[in-house]
Amino acid sequence: MSVANFHLLVLASYYILMLRGCLSCEGHLVALFVFGDSNYDPGNNNYINTTAGFQANFWPYGISYFNPPTGRFSDGRIIPDFIAEYAKLPLIPTYLDPKNNEFVYGANFASAGAGILVESYAGYTIDLKTQLEYLGDLEKQFRQSLGDEKTDQLLSDAVYLFSCGSNDYLSHADNNDNILYPYTHEQYVGMVIGNLTDVFKGIHEKGGRKFGISTVAPLACWPSVRAHRPGKTCNDELEIIINLHNQQLSKKLKELEKQLEGFKYSVFDLNTEVSNRMKNPSKYGFKIGDSACCGTGPYGGIYSCGGKRRIKEFHLCDNASEYFFFDSNHNNEVASRQYAELYWNGESNVTAPYNLKTLFEGEGSLALGREEL
Ligand SMILES: *[C@@H]1O[C@H](CO)[C@@H](O)[C@H](O)[C@H]1NC(C)=O
Ligand SMILES: *[C@@H]1O[C@H](CO)[C@@H](O)[C@H](O)[C@H]1NC(C)=O
Ligand SMILES: *[C@@H]1O[C@H](CO)[C@@H](O)[C@H](O)[C@H]1NC(C)=O
Ligand SMILES: *[C@@H]1O[C@H](CO)[C@@H](O)[C@H](O)[C@H]1NC(C)=O
Repeated sequence: MSVANFHLLVLASYYILMLRGCLSCEGHLVALFVFGDSNYDPGNNNYINTTAGFQANFWPYGISYFNPPTGRFSDGRIIPDFIAEYAKLPLIPTYLDPKNNEFVYGANFASAGAGILVESYAGYTIDLKTQLEYLGDLEKQFRQSLGDEKTDQLLSDAVYLFSCGSNDYLSHADNNDNILYPYTHEQYVGMVIGNLTDVFKGIHEKGGRKFGISTVAPLACWPSVRAHRPGKTCNDELEIIINLHNQQLSKKLKELEKQLEGFKYSVFDLNTEVSNRMKNPSKYGFKIGDSACCGTGPYGGIYSCGGKRRIKEFHLCDNASEYFFFDSNHNNEVASRQYAELYWNGESNVTAPYNLKTLFEGEGSLALGREEL
C-alpha cells in the first residue's frame, strides 16, 4: 500500500469512528436510567419497609434465570435487563442495593407498587417523585466525582426508561361502578398525565433528552382483575380508562417534543403487544395466554405466588416459558424478551417515533448505519 493510500485509510477510519457515535468508546457511554413500577423493579423494594405483596425476592421468582431470586417480578429477566444487553451495558444496578455504588452506566430506581400519583399504594413503595429525587442525588455525586462537563454529557446522552401508570389504575380496580370516584375519568387521567409531565420536565431540567415509555397494558383482563370479579369477566370500565390514558400520553408527548428543547422519545405500544399475546398465545410461542403460571384461584389470579403474601396457597406450573403470565400481575421472561426486541428495533407501528436503538446510537451512527461499516 502506498503512503498516500495509507493516509487515506487512517483518515477514513477516523471519520468512521467519529460517526459511529462511540457506542462503546470510553467517556462516551450512553447510560440507562430506569424508573417506574414492578415491571422494571430489579429489587429496590428489598430495601424498603413494605409488605410481601410488593416484593418478589423469594422462590419461585427468578426460577428461569436468577439464583437466588433478585426481587424481579418474573421467572427471569425483565425488559430493562434485555435493553441493557442490546445497548452493550452491564445489568443496570439496583439503586437501593447498598452493594452498588458505581452508576456511570446508569441506575434503576423502579419500585413495585409505584404509580405516577403519590397516592397510589402510598407507604408501600417509592413513588415516581422520590425516584426523580434519587436521580438528583446521583447528579450531585456525579458532579463531585466526574466534574460538570462529563456529568452534563452523561445526563444528556443517557436514555430515561419508564414503566408507569398501571398502579394508578389497578389500585382502583376493585371498586364498583365509577371506579375513580370522586373524579371523572378525564380529571383523573389528567392528573396522572400531568404528574408524569412534571417528572419528564424535571429530568429535562437536569439535561435529560431521550425518553422511553410504554403504553399501559390491558389490565382490564389481567388474571388478578378477573379473579376478583363476579362472573370472572374483564373490567370494561378499566379498559375505557386505560385507553384514555394511552391516548392522552401520546398527545402529551407530541406537545413536549415541541415545548422542550432537544426532547426525543420512544413509545412502545405494550398495550397492543399484550392484547395480541393474550388473544393468540400460540402465535408467540405460549401455550396459555390468560392464566398465571404461579398463583391460585380462577386464572391463577389470586396473587399468592411464593406463599408469603396474605393468601398462602399457590400452585406453580411445570414450565414457566409456556405461560404468558408468570404470576397474576406480571408476564414471564420470554414475553419480556419479545417486548425488549420490539422496543429496541421495532418498526414504527410498534415503537415510535424513534426506537431505543436510534435513541442510544444518536444521530452520527444513524447517518452511517452500523451494518455498513
Ligand atoms: C415498617 O412499617 C410498619 C407498618 O407500616 C411499622 O409498624 C414499622 O414501624 C415500620 N418499620 C420501620 C423500620 O420503619
Ligand atoms: C399531581 O397529582 C396531584 C395528586 O397527587 C394533583 O393534586 C395535582 O393536581 C397533579 N398535578 C398535575 C400537574 O396534574
Ligand atoms: C418449556 O417450554 C418451552 C416453550 O414451549 C420449550 O421450548 C422448552 O423446551 C420447555 N422446557 C422443558 C424443560 O420442557
Ligand atoms: C408491524 O409491521 C410488521 C411488518 O410490517 C408486522 O409484521 C407487524 O405485525 C406489525 N405490528 C403491528 C402491531 O401491527
